[in-house]
Amino acid sequence: MIDLDNVAYSYGGAELFSQVRLSLAAGSFHFLTGPSGAGKTTLLKLCYGELQATSGQVRLFGEDAAMMDRDAVAMSRRRIGVVHQDCQFLDHLPLTENIALPLTVSGREADAEANLGDLLGWVGLRNQAAQFPPQLSGGERQRAALARAVIMSPHVIIADEPTGNVDWEMSQRLLTLLVELNRMGKTVLIATHDMNLIRAAKSQVTTRVLRLKDRRLMQAGGEL
Ligand SMILES: Nc1ncnc2c1ncn2[C@@H]1O[C@H](COP(=O)(O)OP(=O)(O)OP(=O)(O)O)[C@@H](O)[C@H]1O
Ligand SMILES: [Mg+2]
Repeated sequence: MIDLDNVAYSYGGAELFSQVRLSLAAGSFHFLTGPSGAGKTTLLKLCYGELQATSGQVRLFGEDAAMMDRDAVAMSRRRIGVVHQDCQFLDHLPLTENIALPLTVSGREADAEANLGDLLGWVGLRNQAAQFPPQLSGGERQRAALARAVIMSPHVIIADEPTGNVDWEMSQRLLTLLVELNRMGKTVLIATHDMNLIRAAKSQVTTRVLRLKDRRLMQAGGEL
């Protein structure tokens, strides 16, 4: 689905990381860990075509990202659902409209009504449908962000600290949703600091844990 071959990235100064190899096969479940500032969010952005590698090759669904024009990148992006680290919403729109936004901007409003009820039920937010983002709790926002990420039925879900600001019970609930998506065949990549979350996931699905540290991406060892 997404492949990184000998990839390096720099924001202009020194290289943040280099020699990164990563292959997200269809249906796989990966975690990405590493210290704050190591470049996890940056690496995720390369995986969904938001940033271009400084060197090396990123392939999105078999296509070289460096060769893709804006339309081609946009088409790939529709197949990747992203939960951003800061999960921002448009505060003046009710939750339903925020979640349906990816459909609205791609001219598929008609699909929204069919999917939205089920999706809100799945993330447990039916009762909050008419509320505005500032009225939601941290966990509700995280679940809404996940709903928004999957509304286009993407093949790949990329989640950046999806359990960043929630308690353990809520993080378990979010993990259950991500595991369900994976069981439906979706490819999942999650950046997280939370080792307990990774341990909990390992008891439910086959996962690979990658660690970004000292400018390299490695398979995490047996410490988990
Ligand atoms: N747009 C940018 N321009 C310049 N430097 C940036 C930019 N975005 C991030 N950085 C820098 O790149 C480094 C890696 O940032 P990144 O957000 O990828 O780290 P991270 O591993 O996700 O950290 P965290 O765990 O805190 O979320 C940091 O030092 C950051 O300051
Ligand atoms: Mg980050």
